[in-house]
Amino acid sequence: MKNTFGKSLFIALVCILAGSAVSRSQESLYKRLGGYDAIAAVTDDFVGRLIMNKDMSRFFTGTSDDSRIRIRQHIIDFFCMKTGGPCGYTGRSMKDSHKGLKISESDWNIAAGLLVETLDNFKLPEKEKNEFLGLVIETKSDIVEN
Ligand code: HEM
Repeated sequence: MKNTFGKSLFIALVCILAGSAVSRSQESLYKRLGGYDAIAAVTDDFVGRLIMNKDMSRFFTGTSDDSRIRIRQHIIDFFCMKTGGPCGYTGRSMKDSHKGLKISESDWNIAAGLLVETLDNFKLPEKEKNEFLGLVIETKSDIVEN
């Protein structure tokens, strides 16, 4: 009797643990990253690195404070939407907003390196880091001009 109860308890515990593991792995990347505040912090860190980088800063000169606030908000909304969060993106397409900036392959590589630095700075687990990088890499052909 005692043995049967023990077995049932063990099976129930295994089911609960397995169930919660499955539901965690199905959570959106947005939630796994830590939600809106985490995405905003990642965006600020990344944009800060772009602006401070001697090869990237030229893209951001002559931008008013107000324009920077709007661009920042659009980038947060874009990442929030792409990671499965509750935001809508109302900015321009990636192609329209970067067309004419003449972002080259080598600019892209510098920016990608800075993004990896940002993600490492936040100590993201490898899985989330790779998923996030994957989302960004999808935009490359719209951003880089040959
Ligand atoms: C080499 C890398 C990049 C550079 C130099 C760059 C530069 C810029 C600049 C200068 C703007 C402002 C354009 C304007 O308002 O006239 C902008 C806007 C924007 N960028 Fe990038 N960008 C880069 C990569 C990315 C990536 C990887 C993403 C996201 C995956 C991204 C998302 C956006 C968004 C959402 C906007 C705002 C669009 C809008 O306001 O309608 N950018 N970028």
